[in-house]
Amino acid sequence: MHIFDRKKELVSFLQDERKKNISIGLVPTMGALHTGHVSLVKKALSENGLVVVSIFVNPTQFDKKDDLEKYPRSLERDVELLQKESDQIIVFAPSIDEIYGKSVKSQSYEFDGLDKVMEGEFRAGHFNGVGTIVELLLRTVSPDKAYFGEKDFQQLQIIRKMVQIKKLPYAIIGCPIEREPNGLAKSSRNERLSETTKEEAGLIYETLLAAKSKFGTESASSIRHWVKSEFGKNPVFNLEYFEIADENTLTPMLKKQNDQKYRAFIAVYADGVRLIDNLRLN
Ligand code: PAJ
Repeated sequence: MHIFDRKKELVSFLQDERKKNISIGLVPTMGALHTGHVSLVKKALSENGLVVVSIFVNPTQFDKKDDLEKYPRSLERDVELLQKESDQIIVFAPSIDEIYGKSVKSQSYEFDGLDKVMEGEFRAGHFNGVGTIVELLLRTVSPDKAYFGEKDFQQLQIIRKMVQIKKLPYAIIGCPIEREPNGLAKSSRNERLSETTKEEAGLIYETLLAAKSKFGTESASSIRHWVKSEFGKNPVFNLEYFEIADENTLTPMLKKQNDQKYRAFIAVYADGVRLIDNLRLN
């Protein structure tokens, strides 16, 4: 398997590959790979001749130093896992210096308000950091298609917006959420949960499912209220936000419009670990 840590070498390798007229997929990740990431890689392999998986814990998208430091890193294991998947995979695992040089800073983006709610409200500067690294990866790899999980639905919509605003010629493909048997969305951060909390965290998905079943008959504000009071009673979890929002604009739902698609979004702390999830409601 080819593993690159330099942009220049990756670009020159891909230029040669492209001459063979094969399509290139890109799957950006921060490593500590799990079956959620692998599902994106499999989808990319099914649609492209070559798939670049980037592994880079991007410092500019972390609003808390502690979260960045504790983020799991397992490059060797990740490479082994990808090797087992296919020999059509290329790994790009650059250093911070290779990406940012001396100035570890984000660019500033205009995302039409998509970055002002939920994750954007609670994680200052997060989406400028995501935009910066994803734009750089897209421009470096120049893929036919790039794959992102609906697990981070707001991120997916923001990347779509960035590509549209910057007129970048790459197709952005959204992929469904992979879950544990108890419904907990797979996440690299789950590694930091105790076994008991991991089991109990099935409650997050159960709450989303309950919100979905209430959605037909109850107002958004009554569902928000219900979720807050359920989590208020629970000593293990600390609810940061629960929101029902329009899928495209991400604005909180006030009155249901029949032609709109809505999603429930949630962020919860458990064992000091921040977990997010979401579910389409209609
Ligand atoms: P990371 O959290 O490593 O996730 C990489 C990709 O895997 C993202 O598109 C994410 O939505 C997807 N993913 C994670 N868990 C998933 C699950 N359970 N089911 C389906 N897809 C899942 O998201 C990032 O990294 C970073 O912000 C990145 C885009 C790489 C920019 O640094």
